Amino acid sequence: MYLSCVYDGYWVCFALRVLVIGGSGLVGYKINELFSGDEFEVFSTYHQQVMAGDQWYQMDMTDLDQVSNVFEKINPDVVVLAAAYTDVDGCEKHKKLAFQVNVLGTKKVAQIAEKHHARLVYLSTDYVFNGNTGKYVEDDLVDPLNYYGKTKLLGEEQVKAWCSEYLICRTSVVYGVNKSNFALWLVDALSHGNKVRIVDDQYVSCTYNVDLADQIAALLKQQATGVFHTAGGERISRYDFALQLSDMFGFDTGLITPVSIVDVDWAAQRPVDSSLDVSKITTYKQPLSVKEALDMFYKEYQKKSTGDKLASEVVDV
Ligand SMILES: NC(=O)c1ccc[n+]([C@@H]2O[C@H](COP(=O)([O-])OP(=O)(O)OC[C@H]3O[C@@H](n4cnc5c(N)ncnc54)[C@H](OP(=O)(O)O)[C@@H]3O)[C@@H](O)[C@H]2O)c1
Repeated sequence: MYLSCVYDGYWVCFALRVLVIGGSGLVGYKINELFSGDEFEVFSTYHQQVMAGDQWYQMDMTDLDQVSNVFEKINPDVVVLAAAYTDVDGCEKHKKLAFQVNVLGTKKVAQIAEKHHARLVYLSTDYVFNGNTGKYVEDDLVDPLNYYGKTKLLGEEQVKAWCSEYLICRTSVVYGVNKSNFALWLVDALSHGNKVRIVDDQYVSCTYNVDLADQIAALLKQQATGVFHTAGGERISRYDFALQLSDMFGFDTGLITPVSIVDVDWAAQRPVDSSLDVSKITTYKQPLSVKEALDMFYKEYQKKSTGDKLASEVVDV
């Protein structure tokens, strides 16, 4: 995406400078990868997962000086805040850390982004809802059940309070090939013939990280602002998602046993139905169906596995 302006009597174009905070994460890495080939000049940060390359910067978002330094070096037009303390049960057990990263860290990023006149894209979650009704639209009442959801909602409020131009993108159960997640865990277990127990009465909007990155790119290119549900196109139980994934990969679906949400001993309470209505984003980009997304995920997984196998053979030689 380009910015154009008149300079010295001539029209000149600049690629938008995008800073992805949390580029080493499941979502941030895919945004970093897909935006890089798509008219943006992309820079990314990691925290503990060291990433090599010219465009990578180490940064702790709870440290104001570190945040300021990275902004000074990059001077971004757009900031995608994909960094967070995302372990839902961990947030319940380590509330102080969750608050420091997800609320105070977000506040620091929001303040510095505003100082640099950068547009902020904040990744948020379906867990801001209590899950009593499902199919939530952007303006529905928020009422998080667990501490992770509470801190993410407080993060949304920091963004609204400090930034004059922002996008809040709520997403749900993200999966992809680049970092461990629910879908990759299933592939690993089922491919080894291991039995899995999956809840059949918890409903979500499983989101392929490529689809999520494409939705965010579409919003940016069309200058959208405000709150959006950027997620997969269908409400689905985790069990039905596991069955569809198993079918796509040709695994034995008999390995998957349905269990109830009440049978799972999670530290943090989960909403029963936090599925997201995606009508609003549809004007900008049509979210993928479960089947379309799993088909792409399967192909990307096969490609990556072949690449990894070839790389290990080269090392072996
Ligand atoms: N994954 C999902 O299912 C899901 C669902 C709904 C919403 N979301 C939201 O989507 C966003 C991205 O999630 P994700 O799944 O990509 O998360 P993730 O894979 O857990 O990655 C988290 C990222 O945050 C970075 N980070 C953690 N603490 C940091 C700190 N103190 N300072 C700077 N960076 C820090 C991590 O860096 P290092 O790894 O280098 O330490 C990593 O890059 C989050 O805001 C999350 O709340 C995710």
